[in-house]
Amino acid sequence: MQTETTIAPAGALRTPVQKTVLMCRPEHFTVTYRINPWMDPDIPTSTATAVEQWETLRAAYTGLGYGVELIDPIEGLNDMTYAANGGFTLDGKAYGARFTYEQRVPEGPAYMRWFADHGFQVHDPQHINEGEGDFLLSNGAILAGHGFRTSLESHDELRSIFDREVVSLRLVDPAFYHLDTAIAILDETNIAYLPSAFDEASQAELARRYPDAIHVAAEDGAVLGLNSFGDGRTMLIAERAVGFGRQLRDRGYETVAVDLSELLLGGGGIKCCTLELRR
Ligand code: ARG
Repeated sequence: MQTETTIAPAGALRTPVQKTVLMCRPEHFTVTYRINPWMDPDIPTSTATAVEQWETLRAAYTGLGYGVELIDPIEGLNDMTYAANGGFTLDGKAYGARFTYEQRVPEGPAYMRWFADHGFQVHDPQHINEGEGDFLLSNGAILAGHGFRTSLESHDELRSIFDREVVSLRLVDPAFYHLDTAIAILDETNIAYLPSAFDEASQAELARRYPDAIHVAAEDGAVLGLNSFGDGRTMLIAERAVGFGRQLRDRGYETVAVDLSELLLGGGGIKCCTLELRR
């Protein structure tokens, strides 16, 4: 893990927001099936390396003063470490996940149990959705992906539970199958994204809403560089997303590079391993 800081222009230092996140230690991480183009069961994985890398992410969050809460990993649920998919929380309410692929279906109830035991009012989902993997809070609205995992019907459910504006965005590139692989939330009002991951109407909607957004290069997208998380001041980003790191520092953000290359073999990165808790 390395910290790179450039001197921001005077007055441009950004203010962090206190974050609390839920994580799941990858004690049972391995790749034995393929439900996204990144996964190949023939490529060996190391659970020990995954745990070691994940611990650097956890330590980075703790070092930045985040609250980090943990859910117990369950044997046989290889992908449970990608906590972002466990649900979506806002205003003390948790909308549970209902997974597309049978391999992950049992994670839905496990996360819902955790939310109920930790003070959330839980909403049992009627429609297929993969939680914060496809739902991102931005400027008071919820950006909601669909096309690969999360159903469009779930967007209506989300709207009725949280009473927020829900902006449906259609993902079109199978390599970027969850919204959090194609958009990074930078702070309350701005985002970074990979335009080619979206259909034309969604690209137009994003351009209209975020005229100052960072557009990342294809090579940064291709290492899941957008799968990053931050507190409005410091962004934790994939070590390999060098160009994106530079773009962020040019805008006055600090960056902390984290290597989650082992977890990339399952098709996930920093944000996938992180579920924000908003009580
Ligand atoms: N192997 C997992 C899957 O395909 C990876 C999930 C990545 N999570 C995310 N929020 N993008 O479901």
